[in-house]
Amino acid sequence: MIRVLFICLGNICRSPMAHAVFRDMVEKRGLTDQILVESAGIGNWHVGEPPHRGTRSILDENGISYAGIHSRQVTRDELPNFDYVVAMDSENMKAIKRLGLAPSNRVFRLLDIVPQSVEKDVPDPYYDGRFDVVYDLVQKGCAKLLRRIEMDLARSEQS
Ligand code: 4NP
Repeated sequence: MIRVLFICLGNICRSPMAHAVFRDMVEKRGLTDQILVESAGIGNWHVGEPPHRGTRSILDENGISYAGIHSRQVTRDELPNFDYVVAMDSENMKAIKRLGLAPSNRVFRLLDIVPQSVEKDVPDPYYDGRFDVVYDLVQKGCAKLLRRIEMDLARSEQS
């Protein structure tokens, strides 16, 4: 089982969007038994809340379920349990580092794995409401991440 944790600041806009989009991709590839997807926030302001209205709206438009996704705060203890810890921006990366995880090939920003993307931080839509921009970036990053994990899975099946 490969375990993936998406992290943003509040866990109501960007990381729950990545959680839902990636979970949907994993389901469509028939990999639900092999890839576990979660998300969490650095802060605790929205703990227990469903995704932000803007995130829900764009997911609804695209037919992607966010069932069961509620904001929660990341804990230091859980981080070693994940094979991939995927941050939305540089600030999140700094916070993850403070929690004890250094950047590596398993701890990175979502857009670090999208070579075509000049923008490396997924911008926070909480203040500017640009959920459509976030959705496009999240789609691109998640598609790359899935390809990378599929290669990991193929490699581990060979060995
Ligand atoms: P997110 O956006 O990190 O993408 O979930 C935010 C949500 C809430 C806050 C900031 C960013 N906040 O300050 O409450």
